[in-house]
Amino acid sequence: MFALSSRCLFVAAIVCSCFAVVGAVAGSAETAQIKPRQDKLRDMGGALKSIADDIKRGKLDWENTIPTNVQTIKDRGGYLLKWFPKGSGPESGVKTYALPAIWQKNDDFVKLGKAMQAEALKLDEVAATKNADAFKAQVLVIGKTCKACHDNYRSPDYEKENED
Ligand code: HEC
Repeated sequence: MFALSSRCLFVAAIVCSCFAVVGAVAGSAETAQIKPRQDKLRDMGGALKSIADDIKRGKLDWENTIPTNVQTIKDRGGYLLKWFPKGSGPESGVKTYALPAIWQKNDDFVKLGKAMQAEALKLDEVAATKNADAFKAQVLVIGKTCKACHDNYRSPDYEKENED
């Protein structure tokens, strides 16, 4: 009897430690997304800002600033929805501005992400025409798609902690 129960305990211990290992690996894979996604989002923010700066200066650089930065927004934007696996929110213990609402209202989050992607493709098309008015209008549109998501799914702490 004693021998049997200690064997059970032994088996249970192995099973438990296996689960613990699997859990830890899964956790770190999701948590590992956080820093790179913030870097890529910052690239997108920097790209949009460079374009906005050109517009403010009244000098649109159709050869360099615009195509390079439009490309960054379009390419990074295409992957955005892959950067938010479940478990990569604040519960991960890693510093993130991603709000739990992303996973609670995921359909809406995905919809906003896709809207941004569609507008980024249009931005690319408009940039190719080098029509300044149409381009400026589309920059405003894309800016609104970023804001629409940030308003609901990014913590307002981001604005408090990062002066633009
Ligand atoms: C579908 C939702 C969504 C869309 C669309 C979106 N973002 Fe974000 N963005 C987020 C979330 C969520 C975070 C917080 C990520 C984190 O802290 O882990 C974020 C963070 C950021 C950050 C801060 C990164 C940092 O930590 O320094 C910048 C900059 C940014 N986004 C720029 C943009 C720009 C520019 C666009 C549009 C071209 C855009 N985002 C579109 C959801 C979105």
